[in-house]
Amino acid sequence: MTLTPSGTPSRDRLWRGDSSTSHEWVDFDRGAITRRYDRFAGIIPLFDWLFFMPPRFREKAAERLQLRPGDRVLEIGCGTGRNLPPLRAAVGPTGSIYGVDISAGMLGKARALCAQNRWSNVNLLQQDAAEFTPSDPLDGVMFGLSYNTIPHHLAVLHHAWTLLRPGGRLVVMDAKLPPGLGGRMVLPFSLWLMKRTMLGNPLVKPWEDVLRLAGSIEMEQYMFGSWYICAATKPTTAPA
Ligand SMILES: C[S@@+](CC[C@H](N)C(=O)[O-])C[C@H]1O[C@@H](n2cnc3c(N)ncnc32)[C@H](O)[C@@H]1O
Repeated sequence: MTLTPSGTPSRDRLWRGDSSTSHEWVDFDRGAITRRYDRFAGIIPLFDWLFFMPPRFREKAAERLQLRPGDRVLEIGCGTGRNLPPLRAAVGPTGSIYGVDISAGMLGKARALCAQNRWSNVNLLQQDAAEFTPSDPLDGVMFGLSYNTIPHHLAVLHHAWTLLRPGGRLVVMDAKLPPGLGGRMVLPFSLWLMKRTMLGNPLVKPWEDVLRLAGSIEMEQYMFGSWYICAATKPTTAPA
């Protein structure tokens, strides 16, 4: 991995720019991502259905955080709050939930959900996840369908890791290309579709980034490898 002078990992540069093949991703800037999600906020639930999200997928991802009542959890790119119900159920009324997102449109829906359920311990913040700093260490961090939409995902991942307490859990859940020939065949369509919808770069492999950071991961795959939950525990002792 190389670092830019600003310290931001620059692996994505490999997919920027001038390749004339269709196997190419060009990162979108923050303004474009915000505008896209502001526009999609009303129809986003449709995508779970269109992309064949497995049953109870969000609940399973929240379970992998191994949260207990009273815990503190962050969802990065919380969007309209579709992961908030299982996270709230896990930490209960005494826990704290932080949801960070750059899209006001998406957060508006999440705020309405919290108001409707009278959840007073969900803190929703409109900001870049790289800038979020809670007052105390977190017990869990979730990237819910967001890692691949964040061009500087490596910087955000490393930042999130520093926010976790030793023994805390990090979960990335998302769709991905299926393995082997199937994945190679759907890649051009996936690139085409993602550029027009969720802006999730299908060439990014979050589980590899988490593995490098954490040293070991648990990886569960669903629907012939087209959905996954990747989980890791922050070591309680620093490596020798
Ligand atoms: C596909 S949506 C997922 C929403 C929700 N987590 C879910 O599971 O339905 C991805 C979200 O990531 C947010 N996002 C993208 N870049 C971000 C960043 N740098 N910081 C925080 N949120 C970001 C988008 O605004 C969008 O709401």
